[in-house]
Amino acid sequence: MIVAESIEKVRAQVAEWKRAGLRVGLVPTMGYLHEGHASLVRASVARCDRTVASVFVNPTQFGPGEDLEAYPRDFERDCALLEANGCDMVFHPSPETMYAPGFATYVEILSDMPKRLCGKTRPIHFRGVCTVVTKLFNIVTPDMAFFGQKDAQQLAIIRRMTRDLSMPVEIVGCPIVREPDGLAKSSRNAYLKGPERTAARVLSRAVALGQQRVREGERDASALLAAMKALIEAEPLARIDYVEAVDGVTMEPVTELTDGVLVAMAVYVGTARLLDNFTVGDNTPVCAQDASD
Ligand code: PAJ
Repeated sequence: MIVAESIEKVRAQVAEWKRAGLRVGLVPTMGYLHEGHASLVRASVARCDRTVASVFVNPTQFGPGEDLEAYPRDFERDCALLEANGCDMVFHPSPETMYAPGFATYVEILSDMPKRLCGKTRPIHFRGVCTVVTKLFNIVTPDMAFFGQKDAQQLAIIRRMTRDLSMPVEIVGCPIVREPDGLAKSSRNAYLKGPERTAARVLSRAVALGQQRVREGERDASALLAAMKALIEAEPLARIDYVEAVDGVTMEPVTELTDGVLVAMAVYVGTARLLDNFTVGDNTPVCAQDASD
């Protein structure tokens, strides 16, 4: 696997691949990789001739007081995981490479979309995500880019941005990869200490409850959200940031649970802020145990 730290090295390699008529896939990440990231790499390897992953903890998507410095890092282990899953090149730039002195240009969606859900507590987050993903698209010029449904609002925002700015890249969404007990895999799960790890199961249990109620015919969003919130509030180590039902494309709140509605949550467990979600109409079980409940 090629390790590139400079933009020039990535451009030269991708140009060579493109001259040979090869399709290039991109998997943007912030590193500390796990099986969720690996599934994106494998999806890219399956659909493209060459796969590039980026490992970059992007400072512009962290607000003041967030976990930029604490964010876990292990580049050597990341390289081993990427290579084992068929990645051809990893782009690992320094912050100075991505943000040269005087950097002042941002990509921002001006509708309410990035202000909803995670945007309420993280007002500059999606501006940072859109800016860095635009830069990665300009550097790598991928034919396809792969994002996880775990960050459902991010995926919807990237789709909106690429459409609005006519970016020549196909966005592919990939399903949530979970631990055996249902907890959605996340680099931030590393923050969970002792009993917090068990408490964190409450997110996927709330997802499973939500899916079950929808299967049983619940169509009223506020009734569903109340049941999910009650379950989470019964866990003393968990604190709700939000549990909401929104249109899966626009992120506008909805009152009725029709197919395509996104039911999403952010919940603090200890210092970790964890995400989970499901889409109405998609009954993928969160774990084997819940499937047989
Ligand atoms: P990061 O949190 O490292 O996630 C990188 C990609 O992996 C995202 O598309 C995310 O949705 C996906 N992912 C994470 N956990 C997953 C899981 N359990 N199952 C499936 N996919 C999962 O998201 C970011 O980095 C950054 O915001 C980034 C897009 C790289 C921009 O800096």
